[in-house]
Amino acid sequence: MEAKRAAAELAVELLQDGMTVGLGTGSTVYYSIQAIGRKVANGLSIRAVATSVRSEMLAKELDIPMIPFSEVEEIDMTIDGADEADPEWNLIKGGGGALLREKIVADASKQLIIVVDESKLVQRLGRFPLPVEVVPFGFELTQRKLRRLGCEPKLRMSDSQLYMTDNGNYMMDCEFDSIAQPGRLSEELHRIPGVVEHGLFVGMASQVIVGRLDGTAYTLD
Ligand code: 5RP
Repeated sequence: MEAKRAAAELAVELLQDGMTVGLGTGSTVYYSIQAIGRKVANGLSIRAVATSVRSEMLAKELDIPMIPFSEVEEIDMTIDGADEADPEWNLIKGGGGALLREKIVADASKQLIIVVDESKLVQRLGRFPLPVEVVPFGFELTQRKLRRLGCEPKLRMSDSQLYMTDNGNYMMDCEFDSIAQPGRLSEELHRIPGVVEHGLFVGMASQVIVGRLDGTAYTLD
């Protein structure tokens, strides 16, 4: 908890007056949103867009000024978490189910600041099952096609029900042993028609901030 908080709060120090800010999703960004709420209460002037219903609700509770994504041309800075980060700052995201909106928001952002604790750092991506958002129609076929890429895709469940994303889609958690070429896998996944988006964020992060258990944080070189 202290590690997540340390990374999340250090990222918030990068915010400046007048910025449009993207709010990611997850238990690490939770601390960033709390810290942004405190800064806004103390006079920081920003406007924000959220990557999930959950983060939007939290931001509204904290009186962070929110704008609809449709009104945004460009986002100055997005702060988001990750499930894994490799030495090239490639990421696996989507453990919290918000990868599609996260990727749309990240793509619209001048800077994507990733906040993680040290347990998320890996030499090679793939220990964490790769989340892939799929349309419900024909998901069995999509699952078979995903399996042909060398993984075991498991349909995500929540409280014994099929998990549904904020966008009304299903999520497949794909177990690869490891992902040697994230860029290539990203292209292969995009070629499957039933795949809406996947949790590989290749070359998108501008900075990775890492929290340590002792409550300090540093920026990954
Ligand atoms: C949600 C995400 C999260 O950022 C990712 O799962 C990390 O979450 P946490 O900070 O709770 O470990 O990608 O879709």
